[in-house]
Amino acid sequence: MKAAVYEGPRNVTVEEKPDPRIEHPCDAIVKITTTNICGSDLHMYEGRTSFEKGRIFGHENLGQVVEVGSAVRKLKVGMYVVLPFNIACGFCKQCERGLTNYCLTMQPEPSAAGAAYGFADMGPYQGGQAEFLRVPYADFNALRLGEDAEERQTDYVMLADIFPTGYHATEMAGVKPGDQTVIYGAGPVGLMAAYSAVIKGAGRVWVCDFHTDRLRKAEEIGAMPIDMREQDPGEVIKEATLGLGADNGCECVGYQAHDPSGHEDASRTVNGLIENVRFTGCIGVVGVFVPEDPGGREAQLQIGDFEAKGKVPIDWGKLWFKGQKIGTGQAPVKRYNRRLRDLIAGGKAKPSWVVSHELPLDQAPDGYDHFDRRDEGWTKVILHPDGSG
Ligand SMILES: NC(=O)c1ccc[n+]([C@@H]2O[C@H](COP(=O)([O-])OP(=O)(O)OC[C@H]3O[C@@H](n4cnc5c(N)ncnc54)[C@H](O)[C@@H]3O)[C@@H](O)[C@H]2O)c1
Ligand SMILES: [Zn+2]
Ligand SMILES: [Zn+2]
Repeated sequence: MKAAVYEGPRNVTVEEKPDPRIEHPCDAIVKITTTNICGSDLHMYEGRTSFEKGRIFGHENLGQVVEVGSAVRKLKVGMYVVLPFNIACGFCKQCERGLTNYCLTMQPEPSAAGAAYGFADMGPYQGGQAEFLRVPYADFNALRLGEDAEERQTDYVMLADIFPTGYHATEMAGVKPGDQTVIYGAGPVGLMAAYSAVIKGAGRVWVCDFHTDRLRKAEEIGAMPIDMREQDPGEVIKEATLGLGADNGCECVGYQAHDPSGHEDASRTVNGLIENVRFTGCIGVVGVFVPEDPGGREAQLQIGDFEAKGKVPIDWGKLWFKGQKIGTGQAPVKRYNRRLRDLIAGGKAKPSWVVSHELPLDQAPDGYDHFDRRDEGWTKVILHPDGSG
């Protein structure tokens, strides 16, 4: 089969790889029809993780079941399914508690955090930017889609990651109707956090970034853009809240956060939120931070050596003083994807509004290049390995 493969920093090629096979009676094979490039792929693409050369990218996957193992009961050949980026067993101590993001079966290494398709340090699983994908514990992991699946793939594929992840940021931040919420990052994840806050009835949502095209997307759903090249979020938010700050905030950027001139500073966004969120407010951090970032030694503006070991200078004293709470980590997609699917099916959510480009798999290298440069108008790239779209 054809697949998008990591060949080193900023080098993706589309090559022939062996077709996946059923390896366990609970597996299914899915023919991938829609698969996204994610901001998480970019950390790997830029060589800022331990992602191995030769591995297939792709953790935001949707497709049609083409084969099932002998123990699979729920899934049938021909069904359309969307797959949470987390791979989970459903029966371990973490899964039982709903923490499929930290499954102990699919990621038995105690020092690692959960399993995912085509992801650094999250198990050996291949990704779905390919014609076919093996799905372990398929009955548990796959979410079935209805009759409108084929037609509305660009909406439903967002259930694999960014819609539930954005929603999770707002859950950790405790967003309630009427709240004033600030979001750092207007990438696909930040836009989905803003969308989730709007769906929950937030009174005011600010989205901070440096890219006009992305901020314009935020405006389309009624959020208020803050262009950090021109405005200081602290001043805008203080002015609007009698000096109190936002009720809560979401971090949707991660450790490669940078200043307006592009210099990386992993502390910028979290410290920005500690400053902009009011006393006792909650902050949800879904942007990825890592315990080892060898690239951080050169890239980080502040004290690179320290940041290369994941030690980011956070304003802990201010966080404590303000009595704020902070939530972190990979999103447990399964906690939300069924409900969010039904919002889409019921016509109440249309997350495909973030999509800017639909490309055949062959054009994955081009898609990575433009999305990585955050080129004007490249907000979210979808690949169709089956040539549809
Ligand atoms: N926790 C999870 O489960 C989960 C799931 C998916 C993605 N992620 C992570 O979420 C983050 C965002 O993903 P994405 O797909 O939106 O990526 P992206 O890279 O497309 O978007 C990030 C945005 O942040 C902006 N940005 C950079 N520095 C900033 C700063 N100082 N202040 C405000 N904005 C700034 C960039 O201009 C960009 O628009 C990544 O770290 C990704 O790995 C986490
Ligand atoms: Zn993703
Ligand atoms: Zn498990």
